[in-house]
Amino acid sequence: MTLEPNLLSLIHKSPIFPPFPDIQKNAEVKNFEEYEHLYESSIHHEEAFWLEQAKTLDWMRFPSKGLEYNWSKDEVWHRFFSDGELNVSFNAIDRHVRNGKKDKPALIWQAEDESEHRTLTFGQLKEEVERFANVLKKHGVKKGDRIAIYMPMVLEQAVAMLASARIGAIHSVVFGGFSSESLSYRLKDADCKLIVTSNVAKRGGKIIPLKEMVDKALLEPCSCQKVIVFRRDERLTPMVAGRDLWYHEEMASVSPICPPEPLNAEDPLFILYTSGSTGKPKGALHTQGGYLLHASLSHRLYFDIKENDVYWCTADLGWITGHSYVVYGPLANGTTTLLFEGTPTFPDPAIFWRVINKHQVTKFYTAPTVIRSLMKEGASLINPDLLKSLKLLGTVGEPINPEAWIWYYDNIGQNKCPVIDTWWQTETGGIMIAPLPGCHSLKPGSASYPFFGIKPGIYDEEGELCVHTGGGLYIEKPWPGIMRTLWGDHKKFIETYFSKKVGAYFTGDGSIQDEAGCYWLLGRMDDVVNISGHRIGTAEVESALVSHVAVAESAVVSKPHEIKGELLLAYVILVNGFLPSKELEEQLKQHIKNEIGAIAVPDTIKFVSSLPKTRSGKIMRRLLRCIARGELDKMGDLTTLADPNAIEELTKDN
Ligand code: WTA
Repeated sequence: MTLEPNLLSLIHKSPIFPPFPDIQKNAEVKNFEEYEHLYESSIHHEEAFWLEQAKTLDWMRFPSKGLEYNWSKDEVWHRFFSDGELNVSFNAIDRHVRNGKKDKPALIWQAEDESEHRTLTFGQLKEEVERFANVLKKHGVKKGDRIAIYMPMVLEQAVAMLASARIGAIHSVVFGGFSSESLSYRLKDADCKLIVTSNVAKRGGKIIPLKEMVDKALLEPCSCQKVIVFRRDERLTPMVAGRDLWYHEEMASVSPICPPEPLNAEDPLFILYTSGSTGKPKGALHTQGGYLLHASLSHRLYFDIKENDVYWCTADLGWITGHSYVVYGPLANGTTTLLFEGTPTFPDPAIFWRVINKHQVTKFYTAPTVIRSLMKEGASLINPDLLKSLKLLGTVGEPINPEAWIWYYDNIGQNKCPVIDTWWQTETGGIMIAPLPGCHSLKPGSASYPFFGIKPGIYDEEGELCVHTGGGLYIEKPWPGIMRTLWGDHKKFIETYFSKKVGAYFTGDGSIQDEAGCYWLLGRMDDVVNISGHRIGTAEVESALVSHVAVAESAVVSKPHEIKGELLLAYVILVNGFLPSKELEEQLKQHIKNEIGAIAVPDTIKFVSSLPKTRSGKIMRRLLRCIARGELDKMGDLTTLADPNAIEELTKDN
């Protein structure tokens, strides 16, 4: 892996922000020595360490076993607390009600319309969840059945997730921005029995007809028999008799009592689809006990959680960040967590700061792309008076450039809040590398040190350790939140994550460690890109493109973008008889929108007559990436190219 010279100088010259004394004083882990001591014990005495941490959850049967695993050449499996029994929704709700927090706000919902918000206390959340669990039961959903959730950012989405967890069903949340094609694929792949949706979603001032998208997805044969429709507003939507039911009517028809199902720690909790380097998304499967422990412990420590915090993570529930750090982690800690329906720039780019002030948010967690887009609007829009309640800031989803980090620290944190850059993935379930606010100095651009139980390793293509020169980031030991498999495809799970180096999980990211032991994340090494913090596999976009009649072949690469992090650029060879045109470009963009969703639409589609390929016919994406980025001098060895003329056409207008 060759590192950019400016990155190396950045690593050497990075400013350092020591922990704030007032945070340090009251933090659970108060200094670097304490961290090191705990970290060592989490790596070398993991059994005792995790069983001790497991006491922070409420168990119906406390486990006697911590970690069991086999990461060998022939088998890959890992389990945590395999003889323990618990219920995730009980941990997220009931135990707080029992501990005197019945009237504490659990979820605050802030509508896109600024004047509207709604709060559910832990007591109220309990009743909502129990009722919805009974609705699921009424429609035949049993332990182990899959249900899909395709909703806007509303309280009822969190209720549906927790109700599914209460009865031991497995939820598959599909981001509301995905198309009906994407939804249909996920419904079929996980064999979902029921779907929870909403008549419409409101986002960025637009009305999105979610239920109609569900109707379209259900035109394809699948096992989904019931559609429960939450009424976001008074708008009507066609209801299919016997299949479609109104959420509010169903809720009124059932009892408010539904005891939590005792579940094995290793029973599945949810499936979440994520993009990889293949044409179709993969369903990461997460389980109960280990996942919840990872989500709650990391939430508590990284966000320095205190009883009176109002915590806001801006992620949509359709992504892993929404699962772990809007719903499960915060609620398991009894924290008040805010759900925002809107977007960062509607009706104007100061909306986030007004929401922070309105709800007196203390901890705020967002993505670098959001920070960069608000940075572009200028600091003059920021009224520091609105930000007085803030105590800590977090970021996630993509590497944060030091300029954005410093801007966030200065303008949003007003130089008094640590910025916690958290590196992790859908597959990891929870935060893996990040600075702990009470004990780690902050370096803009570095995610700093590993979490407890996380043993990173950086290796080159030959499998040699190369921590200080940069290489692929591996994790060499299972941790509680790691996914257990890919839904329905354990072979692919092993191939994708465990075949590059026996005995280690390959993250797909590049990394380098500095002299102080801090990790710097260098972006993806595979064909996964990060557009505005959303993870997209270029192969998925390619496969959507070639499913259009006009497209013979395509290659999709990314190039850096100031705000979105990366942009997609598609090279397309047309089928004979089709001619390049602006209309066709628009048609293809619309096609991708229909096949995947708006987030996957390339910025530019270039029509070409050939693509650079090896003699064995493999597209050389490395070259396309250099061309797209205008880095022709970095193309390197061209001798393996089957037809050197292919490059000429592609570089013509560079
Ligand atoms: C990237 C999101 C650098 C990384 C939780 C990873 C990051 C992918 C960071 C996972 C960060 C996430 N610094 N890169 N702090 N956080 N990434 O599955 O490439 O949507 O592999 O999970 O995002 O994206 P995913």
